[in-house]
Amino acid sequence: MSLHINARTNSIVDLIGNTPLLRLRTVEQRAFGLTPNRLGGEDAPVEIWAKCEFQNPGGSVKDRAAKQIVMDALESGALTKDKILIDSTSGNTGVAYSMIGAALGLRVALVMPANVSMARKNITQAYGTEIIYSSELEGSDGAIRLVRKLVAEQPDKYFFPDQYGNAANPRAHYLGTGSEIIEALGDRVTHFTTGIGTTGTVIGTGRRLKEFNSNIEIIAIEPDDSLHGLEGLKHLPSSIVPAIWRPDGVIDRMLPMPTDEAWDAAERLVKEEGIFVGHSAGANVAGACQVAKEAGPGAVVVTVLPDRGDRYFQPMKWERHYAW
Ligand SMILES: Cc1ncc(COP(=O)(O)O)c(C=O)c1O
Repeated sequence: MSLHINARTNSIVDLIGNTPLLRLRTVEQRAFGLTPNRLGGEDAPVEIWAKCEFQNPGGSVKDRAAKQIVMDALESGALTKDKILIDSTSGNTGVAYSMIGAALGLRVALVMPANVSMARKNITQAYGTEIIYSSELEGSDGAIRLVRKLVAEQPDKYFFPDQYGNAANPRAHYLGTGSEIIEALGDRVTHFTTGIGTTGTVIGTGRRLKEFNSNIEIIAIEPDDSLHGLEGLKHLPSSIVPAIWRPDGVIDRMLPMPTDEAWDAAERLVKEEGIFVGHSAGANVAGACQVAKEAGPGAVVVTVLPDRGDRYFQPMKWERHYAW
């Protein structure tokens, strides 16, 4: 179940989804070489809309996937109150599992490298999540190996959701994000573009939009290099390809995104629109701008703002800037 504004509920889990769509006027103006001006100025001949996923109660787009994964697992019996939901994420998915676990009375454990930022540990622990540390020398791969070992040793104790291979992840976006975009903009949408991490957002939303109108173009944004500073995003050629990545019939093309361009877009968003979001949101908006420019007048481009910027006061990998 998800709710509309002004609805009442008794679980925070019901507040996941139904995020607002926000029009990015200065980004539209910039795409067409007009002077960015919130209070007037010339309108660009395109529309760029962003789904405000940072408004989910756990602070990110990953609330949607985590909720669907947990709900499906409870329904199938793969997850019960006697089991511990365990995963190896220190990022937004970890926060989402922690929030949903606390709200539904389910135990959650997260495996993370010992050197992960204090903020990540503090946020997930605040919800009552148990943290199991893996070697800081082995990074996120070490955390993945440890979680697999723990689950293999005691399969009855744990539920391992595997967001990279779990069909509930794209389904959350098929049922939610995609349907909500259709409800808000309907036939007017011409393009949808967003960055790929697990790929759940682009595959699920893209599939729903293609079913609605096969002319809507779906563009997947990926970092242009294996060494990048776009937290949450994956460079597929140098990564383990997620099992849910099924691009046939959904993805029309890939758009490579340099880290600097994405960071610059994120900085402009906070200064020119008052929207303080993370760097994957910067990547998405820079990508949407490029797509709108290439498509030309009449384009209605939709993208996603996955999380807020204050989650990155302690940058994890890319340290071009320490403060905003
Ligand atoms: C900040 C951020 N942006 C984008 C993504 C990518 O979303 P998806 O995993 O649905 O591809 C993630 C996923 O973890 C994320 O945390």
